[in-house]
Amino acid sequence: MKNTLIAPSVLAADFGNLQRDLEMINNSEADWFHIDIMDGVFVPNISYGMPVLETIQKHAKKTIDVHLMIIDPDRYIKTFASLGANVLSVHYEACNHLHRTLQAIKAEGMKAGVAINPHTSVTLLEDLINDIDVVCIMSVNPGFGGQSFIESTYKKVKQLKEIIIRNNASTLIEVDGGVTNKNAKQLAEAGADVLVAGSYVFKAEDQMATIADLKKITSI
Ligand code: DX5
Ligand code: ZN
Repeated sequence: MKNTLIAPSVLAADFGNLQRDLEMINNSEADWFHIDIMDGVFVPNISYGMPVLETIQKHAKKTIDVHLMIIDPDRYIKTFASLGANVLSVHYEACNHLHRTLQAIKAEGMKAGVAINPHTSVTLLEDLINDIDVVCIMSVNPGFGGQSFIESTYKKVKQLKEIIIRNNASTLIEVDGGVTNKNAKQLAEAGADVLVAGSYVFKAEDQMATIADLKKITSI
């Protein structure tokens, strides 16, 4: 049976009760903490930065998955390693020398991830697929939580899965944006290994039950 990993996005948490929401994730069936870092340049929004990440590092007891939506991410690789990131994803569209950036992330002891915008083809990653630990396929335009899922994502997940198999790679496929109980199973069936869910989890009345439900419907 396939164990699809669930990564609640802390962007949708209640920052006035951050510790409570982090503990909820610790106590739930979730697998990863998904942390969105936005610079107001690469994406039209600013999220949160280092002081908040220090709090997350202090309380999170599971894998910390940092998604950098920033230009020139090489400047901050060491910083995020010291803030406890286990997976560090940079955007394909923000890197001039992606191979070098991936090596620099791994040299700091982190798993190296590449996120791609909805307009970026997965075929562009084939030459580097054996160097990438996680590909994060954006299923919304990055910058905001609570947007609607882009349906063409299923096709991208399948295409990427074929590339991974063809190259005998062990890369994980993560899908980020608009994930709910309506699309989670189909994404897992298409080949997704990690599903990020922000608003769907945090807007729910029973957040832990919502995570457990996502876990259940994606165990295929
Ligand atoms: C979007 C972020 C996502 C976002 C997901 O730019 O990268 O991780 O937090 O939130 P939902 O699940 O609400 O689309
Ligand atoms: Zn994200």
